Amino acid sequence: MEINGKTRLLGLMGNPVEHTLSPAIHNTLAEQMRLNVCYVPFLVESERVRAAVEGAYALNVLGMNVTVPYKQAVMEALTGLDPLAEQIGAVNTLVREEGGYRGYNTDALGFLRELEQENIRIEGETAVVLGAGGASRAVVFSLAKEGIRKIYLLNRSFAKAQELSKEVNRCYEREAVIPLAMEDYKKIEEERILAVQCTSVGLAPESGRCVLTSEDFYRNVHTGVDLIYQPSETMFMKLVRQQGGKACNGLKMLLYQGVTAFELFVGQKVPEEMSQIAYERLCELLKPQGGM
Ligand code: ATR
Repeated sequence: MEINGKTRLLGLMGNPVEHTLSPAIHNTLAEQMRLNVCYVPFLVESERVRAAVEGAYALNVLGMNVTVPYKQAVMEALTGLDPLAEQIGAVNTLVREEGGYRGYNTDALGFLRELEQENIRIEGETAVVLGAGGASRAVVFSLAKEGIRKIYLLNRSFAKAQELSKEVNRCYEREAVIPLAMEDYKKIEEERILAVQCTSVGLAPESGRCVLTSEDFYRNVHTGVDLIYQPSETMFMKLVRQQGGKACNGLKMLLYQGVTAFELFVGQKVPEEMSQIAYERLCELLKPQGGM
């Protein structure tokens, strides 16, 4: 679509932003759906977060994504908040409304959509979540919201696992999340586990690493989801597969956080075949470069 007088702007604010894959997702979807929108990255300094949101509104920007390190800081500059984003305490999507922007967390919605796409059940299941940082928060809240029976939350620093568990249990008024130190995985009694890897350990170039390597843990994992998508097969995924489990990486979560944000921006559903075209574009961009 040619940029003209009717083009509406979408953007991403964060710091840094130059390695983002979001323009590829949104501009592919815009092209597929023949919508006159254009998505660009904006580098924003930390003391300018509110000014950036207000400036975007003044410039009639249709919607924005927000990335690290502003997913919390941006919240005070918004006119409304989606309840799930409010619970998680982080926003990655700003949707234009009367007077400002409403905040959503499509990282959480994208994660749930990846599970749905992969036919991974949540209700009544038991999950083990590795990590208790920002990515883990979105995962733990969304699993609890969707009625998972129990979540064991394992983290290197136990205090952080305890803190997040308390928050989620208070929010859903049930003891759904049980914090454990990483080495206490042996206390998990369930034999059919959905495991979600939410730490940064194993991210390229340190692809050989995994936060938990004990074979006996992986024996009970029927499905493992790693939020990392670079490399496309992580050590965690290898360990799951070696013990006969199904494994997927986080590229579909990235895709669907983008697709869900795009749908909120433009107020239209994206047909699945168009999401698949955006997915192929992501795979192409992530393909290791040959030569030299
Ligand atoms: P993100 O936004 O990607 O979740 P984060 O909030 O910094 O990033 O969280 C990083 C997660 O990876 C945390 O759970 C962290 O464990 P701690 O809370 O104990 O720091 C985990 N992590 C990072 N490096 C790690 C390492 N070398 N060993 C074990 N866990 C690690």
